[in-house]
Amino acid sequence: MRLKDKVVIVTGAGSGFGAAMARRFAVEGAALALCDLNEASGIAVCDDIIASGAKAVFLRADVTNGPDFKALVDLALRSHGRLDTVVNNAGYTYRPGPSEKVPEESFDKVFNVNVKSIYWSTVHALPVFRNQGGGSFINIASTAGLRPRPYIAWYNGSKGAVVTLTKSLAGEYAPLKVRVNCLCPVAADTPMMTEFMGGPERDSPEARARSGASVPLGRLCQPEDVANAALYLASDEAEFITGVALEVDGGRCV
Ligand SMILES: NC(=O)c1ccc[n+]([C@@H]2O[C@H](COP(=O)([O-])OP(=O)(O)OC[C@H]3O[C@@H](n4cnc5c(N)ncnc54)[C@H](O)[C@@H]3O)[C@@H](O)[C@H]2O)c1
Repeated sequence: MRLKDKVVIVTGAGSGFGAAMARRFAVEGAALALCDLNEASGIAVCDDIIASGAKAVFLRADVTNGPDFKALVDLALRSHGRLDTVVNNAGYTYRPGPSEKVPEESFDKVFNVNVKSIYWSTVHALPVFRNQGGGSFINIASTAGLRPRPYIAWYNGSKGAVVTLTKSLAGEYAPLKVRVNCLCPVAADTPMMTEFMGGPERDSPEARARSGASVPLGRLCQPEDVANAALYLASDEAEFITGVALEVDGGRCV
């Protein structure tokens, strides 16, 4: 078991990548503290993991809110006694369109959910890692942060910030044995993809297959691809890996 006795927080664990990471980490021996804004889906994932024999707790928490993030860290410590990894996965996007027409509230939400969450995770989890003598953060960025495409500039910018923050914090906290890495997935088969495609009326299995065909390895990213990469970064196999932006993109280079 690659995460035996490790305690991991996963945000946005009720859906997509977050649910896949939580389930995979549990199989590998981790005890989990999960959060999501969507209480029903988060509890469903948590209950499945408990039913499988692993340890998990769930909190309905908003990652943009400092006290909520603190409550999540406190819950992990209270329930499982320590904290090894925080996966900042919860994310938000809006439908692609002219960037000057994106409403202010969408801009604010993109940066609050995708970027400010990393600030709160640092404020509340770093002191725990410092006291413990180490820990790790895994931030879910995107290929959008490395090779931006038109009509989704504010999302691209938020993910570019995630990559830059990952590298900045990795250098700063390496002396504390705190590793900070991020994953950059390509377009993925999750509910968020509906927004990237322009809404439910444009989303279909055929449209997703066409999008996947434009990836060199011939398919969309699956949640399990992200879970496998995150598992490596969370494990001791990655003890010398920090400041990395690992592309999970099937070879997409444009
Ligand atoms: N789907 C893609 O194509 C894709 C590609 C690259 C990167 N990403 C990134 O991966 C991450 C996960 O995306 P996904 O595709 O699994 O999305 P998803 O929509 O399936 O899941 C996101 C989860 O985050 C939760 N969430 C949203 N705002 C929150 C908040 N403020 N507090 C707590 N929970 C909140 C949602 O309720 C949802 O359960 C995001 O950061 C996203 O930007 C997605």
